[in-house]
Amino acid sequence: MVTATSIAYKDLRGYIDAADRLGELRLVNGADWDLEIGAITEVAARATHPKAVLFDNIKGYPKGFRVLTNAVCSPATTALAFGLDPALSGMDIIRAWKAKLESYQPLQPVDVSSGPVTENIDSGGKVDMLKFPTPRWHEHDGGRYIGTGCMVIMEDPEGKWTNAGTYRVCVHDKDTLGIWISPGKHGRLIREKYWAQGKGCPVIISFGQDPILAKVASWYEAWGVSELEIAGWLFGEPVKVVRGKETGLPIPVTSELAIEGFMVPPEVDSRSEGPFGEWTGYYASGTRNEPVVKVKTVMHRNDPIIFGMPPGISGKSVQLSAANLWLALEKAGVTDVQGVWDYTTRYITVISIKQKYGGHAKRTAMAMLGSTYGYHRRFVIIVDDDIDPSNIDDVLWALATRCDPATAINVITEAWSTPLDPRIPPDARAQRNFTNSVAVINACQPYHWKDQYAKTCYFPEEVRKETYSKWKEVLRLE
Ligand SMILES: Cc1cc2nc3c(=O)[nH]c(=O)nc-3n(C[C@H](O)[C@H](O)[C@H](O)COP(=O)(O)O)c2cc1C
Repeated sequence: MVTATSIAYKDLRGYIDAADRLGELRLVNGADWDLEIGAITEVAARATHPKAVLFDNIKGYPKGFRVLTNAVCSPATTALAFGLDPALSGMDIIRAWKAKLESYQPLQPVDVSSGPVTENIDSGGKVDMLKFPTPRWHEHDGGRYIGTGCMVIMEDPEGKWTNAGTYRVCVHDKDTLGIWISPGKHGRLIREKYWAQGKGCPVIISFGQDPILAKVASWYEAWGVSELEIAGWLFGEPVKVVRGKETGLPIPVTSELAIEGFMVPPEVDSRSEGPFGEWTGYYASGTRNEPVVKVKTVMHRNDPIIFGMPPGISGKSVQLSAANLWLALEKAGVTDVQGVWDYTTRYITVISIKQKYGGHAKRTAMAMLGSTYGYHRRFVIIVDDDIDPSNIDDVLWALATRCDPATAINVITEAWSTPLDPRIPPDARAQRNFTNSVAVINACQPYHWKDQYAKTCYFPEEVRKETYSKWKEVLRLE
């Protein structure tokens, strides 16, 4: 039985110390905010053993004003960040995370009067977003993006629930930030409610917070669910918040750097935003006018740390959302799922099942595409239960030896996708058609004659494990 353990830190600094103790941190002194931090981050993420990278003494900025990147970029840091057993790897990490998700109980934040984030408060003429070492991450980025792994907090004016999202944020000038929120995202729907009343939308943005707060911000949650309550449950204690003086919105007190302000209606102000090197590994969305945030207050800890998550870089990180997808399949009534794994962030998903009836494989793929987690996928590969979805060699072997391309691949057109998809043709883009096609690939032994399928000559997983444990010393040397 795989289990979750408790969280070993209380804030981003605690996380950095814990990563350092585990040997999972690199310290870089003297890098340039202009492309060099981005380049080092990319090279470090591609290392055989990717570690978190802490940048200090950044060119032109005071010592102590730091940027952390690749915070969760390997199985070890995934375990550390989310309270999982560091000895776990591959599918066992997903199983442990799924078991954790199944015990979800919301835990509301609690209000306090002050905390680390209130150590420094600048308002009015003192607001200066340029004093923080904001990287230009990629060569053709249309600006400096302070918000890449940020937490944008807003409140539904009707529902009294608090949303958190990760939406990219660039610095336009001392007190103006640009923000890009994808169509349909909760943050976008909320701000439109304020704009419809002719009001600016109150907002808090935290630019430096621990991996749990960062994670829940990008969590795909239903409308009405407050992500700060999810964070409290993950921590095992409520998130402590101070209330913004201008907005009344909650600010996690452990935040390294947070602003409060208003996303003004576009007719009041909007500015050119993008392009930006996105999670697909391509520049996306060109340049167009986007809404801005007028910053009223800046709060930061002494020597603040920006949490940088330049997209397109996943290193050897584990896509924990595979566990959410697994749960969604179960909720849709799909039984006998043995494992789920996402490659290239989410474009290629592999699901292993123990086939129980004809059509089981196809149903699994269709249920996945019909769920919230069906968003911008390209290939869904269904494999049998003897295939470990997290092992790319196993998956390729299943494709090579069990999939008949003429009969086992279905192409779904007009599937739910995103403007960030680099494969959307120019004419479709011009018509604002942001759908894409998805190949559903059945790489299982054909259900109706699987009893006649050639027997595999490979040893079963249990025998491999026993063999490894008996011959560990020898095999480790190889
Ligand atoms: C590193 C990172 C960067 C992201 N950047 C954006 C972004 O710029 N705009 C956006 O709409 N979504 C972005 N997302 C995805 C959203 O954060 C995610 O869909 C989240 O669920 C949105 O919250 P919401 O559903 O409450 O709006 C990003 C996610 C991650 C992990």
